Amino acid sequence: MATSQDTTPETGPGGAGPLLDVRDLHVEFRTREGVARAVNGVSYSVDAGETLAVLGESGSGKSVTAQAVMGILDSPPGFVTGGQVIFQGRDLLTLGNEQRRKVRGDRMAMIFQDALSSLNPVLSVGDQLGEMYRVHRGMSRKDAKAKAIELMDRVRIPAARERVRQYPHQFSGGMRQRVMIAMAISLEPEVIIADEPTTALDVTVQAQVMELLADLQREFTMGLILITHDLGVVADVADKIAVMYAGRIVETSPVHDIYRAPAHPYTKGLLQSIPRLDQKGSELYAIKGLPPNLLHIPPGCAFHPRCPIARPVCRTDIPPLYVVDDKRASACHFWRETIGDERAAADRA
Ligand SMILES: Nc1ncnc2c1ncn2[C@@H]1O[C@H](COP(=O)(O)OP(=O)(O)O)[C@@H](O)[C@H]1O
Ligand code: SF4
Ligand SMILES: [Mg+2]
Repeated sequence: MATSQDTTPETGPGGAGPLLDVRDLHVEFRTREGVARAVNGVSYSVDAGETLAVLGESGSGKSVTAQAVMGILDSPPGFVTGGQVIFQGRDLLTLGNEQRRKVRGDRMAMIFQDALSSLNPVLSVGDQLGEMYRVHRGMSRKDAKAKAIELMDRVRIPAARERVRQYPHQFSGGMRQRVMIAMAISLEPEVIIADEPTTALDVTVQAQVMELLADLQREFTMGLILITHDLGVVADVADKIAVMYAGRIVETSPVHDIYRAPAHPYTKGLLQSIPRLDQKGSELYAIKGLPPNLLHIPPGCAFHPRCPIARPVCRTDIPPLYVVDDKRASACHFWRETIGDERAAADRA
C-alpha cells in the first residue's frame, strides 16, 4: 500500500496532532546553474518530549529543511515552494516576518554545528546569555547576569561564576557547544532543532554533549530534532529516525526497528558503514558512488545509481513511501526484500 509522505499518527496533546508537524515541504534554490531541488515533499513530526533524528549524507537537504522550518532560509536563492509547517496548530509559513521572529525567539530554537561562528566574539559569554533575558524578558542587567550563571550551571559548565565574564574563544569546543545549548534553552522553547551539534567535536566530548542535550530535552519535555550524518551518535537518544536522500525522506522508523531491520537499501548501507567494535580490523563498508547533485536528481528512485539491488523499474518509477507497519515507512519498491520479510517470496511468486 502506498501513502503520501505523512506517516506519523496524530498523537499530540489532546489529540490535536503533533507539536511540530512538517507536511509535504518543498524548497528549491534558483541559481545561475539551474534549479536545485533541495527538499522534495518532506514530512516529519515531533512531539513534546520526543526526539526525532534526521539522518542522511551531506547534501541530502537536512539543513535546508530545518532552515525552512525555522524561517531562516537564505532567500533568495532559496524558496519554499510548497507544504506546511504546523506548530501548535498554526502554519508558520503563513505568518508575517514579525510573528515568525517571535515564534523563533520564544518557542523554537536552533543549535548549529559551529558555535564559534554563531557566537559573538567580542561579547562575553555572560553578556550573550544575559541578552536573551534582557531583550526577550525585559530583565535588568543584574538579573540577566544571575540567569546567565544559572544557565551555565545547568549546562554543566564548571566555575560558571568566573567563566561568565570570559569570551567564546576562551572556551573549548565542547564548552562552547554547551554555551550554544544554554542559549537555545534560555527561553524554554517547545522545540529545539540541533543541526549536527556534535560533528565538530571529538568522540568523547560528542557523547557528553549528546547526553546533556538528551537530559535537558527530558527535563523540559521539549521536542528535539537532531540532524546528523552519523547513525552512531543518535542510537541512544533518538525515539525515531527519518532518513533523507536527495531531498526526500526514504525511511521513517522507531529507532530500535531501524537498527534491527532497515527497510531501505540506503539505510542499510548507512548502518553497514558505522564502525563497530566487534569488527575491528575488517574493512568498513562504504556505499558506492556519491550522493546526487540536486540540480540533476536521477529519475525514478534517486538512489538507483548506487543501489545494490536496483532493477529496471527503479530507473523510471519514483517509489512512494510504502507503509511497512503503523510506525514505519520505506520509499523502496523492494522494501520487503530489504527488510528480510518472508512475505517477499510470496509476493514475487
Ligand atoms: N545557499 C544555497 N544556494 C544554493 N543551493 C543551496 C544553498 N544551500 C543549500 N543548497 C542546495 O541544497 C542542498 C542540500 O543542502 P543541505 O540541506 O545543506 O544538505 P545537508 O543534508 O548536508 O544539511 C545542497 O546540496 C545544495 O544543492
Ligand atoms: S527503489 Fe530500487 S533503486 Fe531505490 S532503493 Fe529500492 S531497490 Fe534500490
Ligand atoms: Mg547540513
